Amino acid sequence: MGLDSAAIRRQFPFLHGHGQPVYLDSAASAQKPESVLQAMDTFARHRYANVHRGLYPLSEEATDLFEQSRETVRAFLDARHRDEIVFTKSTTEALNLVARSWGYATLKKGDAVALTVLEHHSAIVPWLQLKEERGIELVWIDIDDQGRLKPGDLTRALQKGNVKLVSVTGLSNVLGVRPALKEIITEAHRAGALVCIDAAQLVGHHAISVRELDCDFLAFSGHKPYGPTGIGVLYAKRELLRGMPPFLGGGMMIREVHRDGFTPADAPQKFEAGTPPIVEAVGLKAALEWINTVGWSDIEAHEAKLMHAAHETLSNIPGVRILGPQKPAEASGCVSFVVEGVHPHDMADLLGQACFCLRAGHHCAQPLHERLGVSASIRLSVALYNTEEEIRSLGPAITRAVKVLAA
Ligand SMILES: Cc1ncc(COP(=O)(O)O)c(C=O)c1O
Repeated sequence: MGLDSAAIRRQFPFLHGHGQPVYLDSAASAQKPESVLQAMDTFARHRYANVHRGLYPLSEEATDLFEQSRETVRAFLDARHRDEIVFTKSTTEALNLVARSWGYATLKKGDAVALTVLEHHSAIVPWLQLKEERGIELVWIDIDDQGRLKPGDLTRALQKGNVKLVSVTGLSNVLGVRPALKEIITEAHRAGALVCIDAAQLVGHHAISVRELDCDFLAFSGHKPYGPTGIGVLYAKRELLRGMPPFLGGGMMIREVHRDGFTPADAPQKFEAGTPPIVEAVGLKAALEWINTVGWSDIEAHEAKLMHAAHETLSNIPGVRILGPQKPAEASGCVSFVVEGVHPHDMADLLGQACFCLRAGHHCAQPLHERLGVSASIRLSVALYNTEEEIRSLGPAITRAVKVLAA
């Protein structure tokens, strides 16, 4: 039947304010549908209480809702067990949890973590910290000019025998490419290495089954798949979480505390110290349910059309160079480009004045930009509420900006 784009757009209050800009920065953070805003608002106004503490009905009800959110995430990721879902603040915190807890407990000098050059800084810096503090090695997996991982690089890295974990993005936040996760995981496991997936971008564009992938860790943030900021998720296999020490200490992550020590709670509470993001968990649940209601096949079909429009629009503008995949079918969610003789920041600034929201810079992927031979780029990213017309209307605005800036 296909996506009813007008019906989708009606559900986003952001699109209906007077003089609203064309929002093409959903890779940074997505707008929220009414159902998410309403779920959070109703809970915060009328049903709010702390969770896992109070014995009165309001708190028990809030706890139930919070745990239902965990169940929604479990089902959304197709995880086997609800206790494999840890709520964090963000993807960044989830990936730091892996490095600080699993990494510090497991890795010793001489062990290696393999990373792809596509990675976001959140999936790089925690391992660089371990390199400095523990003397672990980082092994880099390179890409070709289309942004595809060089298959030989992973094999060579794994053959060295000291790679204990492969950290790989599910979808690049710059090039939109999707590494072949299943193959990477199978190869890594064969060599005895675990795999951690940064699904910050993937989660809003394609279905994920951690069960099918058999990944060991997977992280995402609530605010990219149409949910709120302030909440993220770490999925980890049950047996891994059982063996990992707590990352943050405080209330709720303990079984007992005495003057001379403490016993941690079981996972996932062991990793959820302090008051968790309760209203945000309610919003995340609503966001994932909203995605389920739309359905992946319509989401993917609509976004494929948007990517096609984006590539066509950009490739018709003289001086524009698309980075990475040249075929729209090989990328999802975003396309980044540079314009000859124009600094990306100046371009984004002028486009902003013309009511288009696009991000410019290194998009927290500086090693990737170094690999591509540019210091910065402009990124056009899409979500379900965008239309092909919006994207095509960007073409003349870029052309005008080029005339001003390259003059
Ligand atoms: C691929 C990728 N990883 C990690 C992150 C970090 O997400 P957050 O800032 O929500 O922690 C982002 C955010 O842009 C991202 O695109």
